[in-house]
Amino acid sequence: MSCFSLKINDRYYTTTGWDICEKTFTPEHLISRGSNFLTGNGYLGYRGTFPDWRRDQYVGCFVSGTYDNADGKWTELSNAPNALYTNLEVNGKSLPLSTNPPAPFKHKYYSRLNLQNGLLEMQNYCKTEEGAALEIRAERFASYDDLHIIPMRFQVKALSALELTVSTGIDGNVWDLNGIHIPDLQLQAHLNFISAKGRTVQSGLTLVVYEGHSISGVEPQQAETVSQGQTALRKYTFSLKPGDEIMIDKLMTVCSSFDGNNPEATAFKSLEQALDKGYECLLEEHQPHWNKIWKNIDIKITGDLFSQALLRFNLYHAIICAPLHSDSLPIGARGLSCQAYQGAAFWDQEIYNLPMLTWTMPDAARRILTYRYKTLGGALRKAKALGYSGAFYAWVSGMTGDELCPSFFFEDVLTGRKIRNHFNDWQIHISPDIVYAIWQYYQVTGDWSFIEEYGAEIIFEVARFLHSHAFYKKDRDRFELIRLLGPDEYHENVDNNAYTNYLAKFSLRTALVIEEKLKKEMPSSHEQLSEKLKLTETDFANWREMAAKIYLPQPDPSTGLIEQFDGYFTLEDTTPADLQKRLLDKNEYWGWPNGVAVHTQVTKQADVLQLFVLNNCFSLNTLEANYRYYEPRCQHGSSLSASVHAIIAARTGRIEEAFNYFKHSCLVDLSATAKAESGGTFIGGIHTAACGAAWQIVMLGFLGMEYNKGRLTFKPNLPEAWQEVTFKLCIGGRQKAFKATRTGVEELNQ
Ligand code: BGC
Repeated sequence: MSCFSLKINDRYYTTTGWDICEKTFTPEHLISRGSNFLTGNGYLGYRGTFPDWRRDQYVGCFVSGTYDNADGKWTELSNAPNALYTNLEVNGKSLPLSTNPPAPFKHKYYSRLNLQNGLLEMQNYCKTEEGAALEIRAERFASYDDLHIIPMRFQVKALSALELTVSTGIDGNVWDLNGIHIPDLQLQAHLNFISAKGRTVQSGLTLVVYEGHSISGVEPQQAETVSQGQTALRKYTFSLKPGDEIMIDKLMTVCSSFDGNNPEATAFKSLEQALDKGYECLLEEHQPHWNKIWKNIDIKITGDLFSQALLRFNLYHAIICAPLHSDSLPIGARGLSCQAYQGAAFWDQEIYNLPMLTWTMPDAARRILTYRYKTLGGALRKAKALGYSGAFYAWVSGMTGDELCPSFFFEDVLTGRKIRNHFNDWQIHISPDIVYAIWQYYQVTGDWSFIEEYGAEIIFEVARFLHSHAFYKKDRDRFELIRLLGPDEYHENVDNNAYTNYLAKFSLRTALVIEEKLKKEMPSSHEQLSEKLKLTETDFANWREMAAKIYLPQPDPSTGLIEQFDGYFTLEDTTPADLQKRLLDKNEYWGWPNGVAVHTQVTKQADVLQLFVLNNCFSLNTLEANYRYYEPRCQHGSSLSASVHAIIAARTGRIEEAFNYFKHSCLVDLSATAKAESGGTFIGGIHTAACGAAWQIVMLGFLGMEYNKGRLTFKPNLPEAWQEVTFKLCIGGRQKAFKATRTGVEELNQ
């Protein structure tokens, strides 16, 4: 470990800008520690827990694609049996690995996440009451070379003479949020490995885990296999002298039948190959994958190591949550860090995660967008079930795209009664959000083949949905969108939410641009698609009419303010701090139908300001006026909100404020400021939208990047300490490098 350390906050520090370290273990932060130190590869995420931790310490290895509904209400990802489980007993007594060392050995403890390759290292000094002392080291990573494996190296050094028992194997008793997903787990200890296999309750997926390990250093005096309840372990006893060292190289391999017909064979092949190669070789093969990722996404900040480490921490998590290997999987709102938010995609995916991928790793963005094509069926079914045409995408979207958001999401903590939230049937902006992301992908990459193969169909179906949802107001000769939930989730059942209406217009116009281009340049595609979707001239004419006549709330000529939705300005004008005082219980839900914010102008998150991030047709004065108005009324009850405020503050020249919001957004996980529970529902874990948004704060906020009709411009407005920012963008299939300083941005020769 380097001697240099720069404080990130009370719990974490960095030594190089490429790591996040913890000096003291704080038991009250079990949940956030496990999430922050997550190792993952987009296929699986293994929480940053100690090897001897169990379900009570929120141990988890969440596997993409393993959706299952075990309790009849919540569909969520399954948690694989823990094949890294290892515990120690010294002189017959259990020795917890995460206890802070006594003085003067305090400095011996650290946990360090290396962001360059996702290697989590943990070191500790453990002492028993009788004075026997040990030094422990453990490190692990989720391989990007073989997505099914997690190698771990576990080392013990005796500092006094002692009798040590190491038990290592599979612990099948894991942490599940909503029901046990693999109730019939079969554990089996074979000669050289241990296996765990079972079927998920409702989805019937087979999940297989293998464990294998090798021991070097000191020969065990005794070895036995102990299978008890949900665990199958090998138990080794050693008689150690001071200075003796033991090294256990351990492997966990995971596969589910979502990945193919024979998960056992895949997981077993991975185990055999990995055991053959050995830990060092596996790490060596894994590293180039991260080198390639960082070569694309890294943003180097000169002059401010604090911002650098924060930013990279967020970019790291923005990558490991993304299933880059697949075009059938979403980016979950909590990634693979836990089961909260069901391992499913929200609008977060398109508006918060995808911009970074589109601009830096467009192939990855294409795959995530293809997922939206593959789940179009779910969106069509949802629209039909609710009486609309076209594609109404799920607010919470998993495997099939059918709506996973239960009608009763929260509970009234005061009465215990369920709350009927309408995230699933009124929050329609999810469909235009997807159009926005697709069109941005096309604008940046020029990849028309995506539009022809997938995008056009999605966008036409969204246009069709919007038209079927709209209400034509005869007296005003305009189309309105009524009974909505905009981005600000505290206000349900609102009409003409500015954000939604503007995005709806954008979607209709995009549909028409595509239609025209297809008709002119690819008439046979136009014909085929029209036939497939049963689209006629009347549909296109309808969209044209609606695009021309949809009501868009305008900035008020005297104040410059855009009303968030009809009647918003007539609501009680108060502040989040004031509402806080009205709470009867700190876990009360603030929103619909009876929450403290409902009849007030206090918003949960950026709404009108969010529109400005996506749509740059508004003047700086409008941004300024609306920022001044909405900012003090926002509670930031969502981790999505701070980044938007950072971007708009930076664009309007409030650099100090923007920097504070940058910190607020980028620290949401490290400082564990976001709620882990709301209205009785667990919502902890990594806030992947905020992670993706970190990239946007720098690019759209501090660098003032805009892209208009193929023209890329910057207006840098850097925080005081930042001297230089270097980054790469991939435009039209070509990667370009840039350097930004206070005075401008130049393209670099590569
Ligand atoms: C926010 C939504 C977001 C969801 C998942 C909610 O708290 O209000 O905007 O999509 O969390 O991150």
